[in-house]
Amino acid sequence: MCGIIGCNGVEGAASAITQGLERLEYRGYDSAGIAIIDNKKIRYEKKKGRISVLIKALKTQSDFVGSIGIGHTRWATHGKPSDENAHPHISGKFAVVHNGIIENYRQLKEKYLKLVSLKSDTDTEIIVQLLNRLYSGNCLETLSNTAKLLEGSFAIAVLCEDEPDTLYCVRKSSPLLIGVGNGVYAASDLSAINDRIHTLYRMNDGEIAVISKTEAEFYTFDKKKIVKNPEEFEKAESNCGKENYEHYMLKEIYEQPAAVQKTVDAYLENNKFRLDFELNKPERIYIVACGSAYHAGLAGKRIFEELLKIPVIVQVASEFRYSNPLINENTPTIIISQSGETADSLAALREAKSRGAKTLSIVNVRHSSIAAESDYVLLTRAGQETAVATTKAYSAQLAALYMLGIYFAEKFGTADSKTTEKLKSQLETLHTAILSALDCEMQIKELAQQLQSAEHIYFIGRGLGYAAACEGSLKLKEISYIHCEAYAAGEMKHGTISLIEKGTNVIAADTEPKLSPKLQSNIDEVVARGARVTAITSQGKIKADSVIKTPAVNELFAVSTQIVPLQLLSYHIARLRGCDIDKPRNLAKSVTVE
Ligand code: M6R
Repeated sequence: MCGIIGCNGVEGAASAITQGLERLEYRGYDSAGIAIIDNKKIRYEKKKGRISVLIKALKTQSDFVGSIGIGHTRWATHGKPSDENAHPHISGKFAVVHNGIIENYRQLKEKYLKLVSLKSDTDTEIIVQLLNRLYSGNCLETLSNTAKLLEGSFAIAVLCEDEPDTLYCVRKSSPLLIGVGNGVYAASDLSAINDRIHTLYRMNDGEIAVISKTEAEFYTFDKKKIVKNPEEFEKAESNCGKENYEHYMLKEIYEQPAAVQKTVDAYLENNKFRLDFELNKPERIYIVACGSAYHAGLAGKRIFEELLKIPVIVQVASEFRYSNPLINENTPTIIISQSGETADSLAALREAKSRGAKTLSIVNVRHSSIAAESDYVLLTRAGQETAVATTKAYSAQLAALYMLGIYFAEKFGTADSKTTEKLKSQLETLHTAILSALDCEMQIKELAQQLQSAEHIYFIGRGLGYAAACEGSLKLKEISYIHCEAYAAGEMKHGTISLIEKGTNVIAADTEPKLSPKLQSNIDEVVARGARVTAITSQGKIKADSVIKTPAVNELFAVSTQIVPLQLLSYHIARLRGCDIDKPRNLAKSVTVE
């Protein structure tokens, strides 16, 4: 949520910053801005709209030169998207960009800035106004005093005209990485600077970075110097563009077989796991996540309970963190997150740790906060995911959960070896079934034509089919803006079936053969009330208006194949409706605020 970038000692800083912003745009895209110091003066430009609008505006300004600067792409929290609310915010000799939320901005305004008339409706402006108000002539001291007053989450990059050769950054609870290469860079995530740096540092909470043209020094908020070791990192994959696909989402749907194969291959070879988690059989396990990652967790619960025979509680992170969860040192907690930066999931991880639980994260981004703070990490290998609607990262999360379920079943001795050996060999070839599932695209395109004008679509399923229904429903609503709801099929008759009338569209996910007759009854119930039903199934038995066949796999893995037609359906419906598929309205890929 919001992306920030800064650089120092970089020839043509403005173009390095706008290039970085284009890579960070998935984090928020309602406005963007840039500030540089040119000849000891701050120059800035900020615009409502996409980065392309900012770049166009910059082209009309010939003298935007300088080797130090900061940039921002915004997802509005306080104040509507507008030129005034876009970052950077400027006051006196300072320019600031910020990712996060300053929770006590009203109190700070009241206490320190009563007489200041603000130019924007943002919480961020309070930071720059405070810097100006508290400025002692020493930037580090002023930043340290200001940072100590701020409550909430913040990653901040600051320019000061009095120190035109120094870039300052501050971090608390919002991600910030510093990289050294030809010049020194700061960014919300590695993708923005990966190809420009050879050395990477991860800022931790409560740290200030003082960045010269060639190096970075780190301090605590109390100005005590910190010695920091660089992090290992992999250079960017070369295939980060859209290639011949019209949208990133479609490309990423097609990258799922590879994402799953790479994730499985990283930890399972010749039917042996390369996993080493020191856990004894617990009384129960928590799985905590948000959005699609939570839906992966729903599937994980079903699989873990089947294989481990212990209760698994799946909770959305925003609820978990305030729910006084019943966990202690014997309750391992699994956090699932593509970005590894989701604020609620990170807070949940910290909550679990503070209660003594061992934490295990399934994350896709190696240098993320969740990966750094977890006791154990299972890194999914989906590669960079750019479309806001997750597809390949979700599929890689499912694969990770299958592995963990089988691994723990072996470790705790809760499933016989014949079962686990069979599951492992089926898992090693799951990617081929996902590849075959992609063959349904032509049929899905036809279905999308029929459904494109629907006002409501209901997704139903039982067991793992319910987990698939939840994810299918979220996918479609987030990119097509059609109202969708997912229901456990048997629950419809307890209220929601009253919404079914002639022509209502229902999509049913049939994953577990033993539940198929029950699902068929639920399908028949909605058909009797006029619904038009599409069933996704690997068997030939379900009767519905249309049936999409998926390849047969072990029923525990069926979400992985059944989600493919649901993702493609969302994509094609959204395309027919002319939606902005990769950047849906009101959303951002990385949700780093509460
Ligand atoms: O990065 P995370 O996996 O923690 O993100 C969690 C959710 O914000 C994310 O899955 C979201 O629901 C997706 N946009 C859904 O496609």
